[in-house]
Amino acid sequence: VANETPFPYENLVVDIPDYPEPGVVFKDITPLIADERGFSACVDAMTQHFLGKGVTKVVGSEARGFLIGTPVAYRLGAGFVPARKPGKLPREVYTQSYALEYGTDELQIHKDALSPDDRVIIVDDLVATAGTALATAKLVEQSGAKILGFSFILELAFLNPREAIGKEYSQEVYSLI
Ligand code: ADE
Repeated sequence: VANETPFPYENLVVDIPDYPEPGVVFKDITPLIADERGFSACVDAMTQHFLGKGVTKVVGSEARGFLIGTPVAYRLGAGFVPARKPGKLPREVYTQSYALEYGTDELQIHKDALSPDDRVIIVDDLVATAGTALATAKLVEQSGAKILGFSFILELAFLNPREAIGKEYSQEVYSLI
């Protein structure tokens, strides 16, 4: 529909000061995806952006990346590949360490989950320092698959994740908020 008002996503994101530790303002997206129109607006916007680009797999990281990644994969007619915390995947894995806005962690994907023929988007609910997104991208690269882009519901622009991703990847970054 022409001139359609964009969905007011940000009205449904709740700021939690000093969570999970002092000085961090946690952006809680659960009210946005709990909202019937909010959830479909997020999934529709992300799907629309990548439709027709030949995406074969959506890769989402544990745990909130699964929430937006799986419906987008379904709507794109793509498969979904979970990037999981250590010890969760039962077969041979690739592993990457990464730094978070608070703390460090590791992510893994199954070695046979992606092939060099795959065209991948990396999806998450939120990008902060881009540590998770970059670790996920390196897992995708280890498998030889092609990365088409990165997409997030919410980008914490003050932490410059776009710049961090841009230092290593020229692919587009598409964020709804
Ligand atoms: N993940 C990393 N930083 C975050 C933040 N400020 N809010 C929600 N999730 C996050």
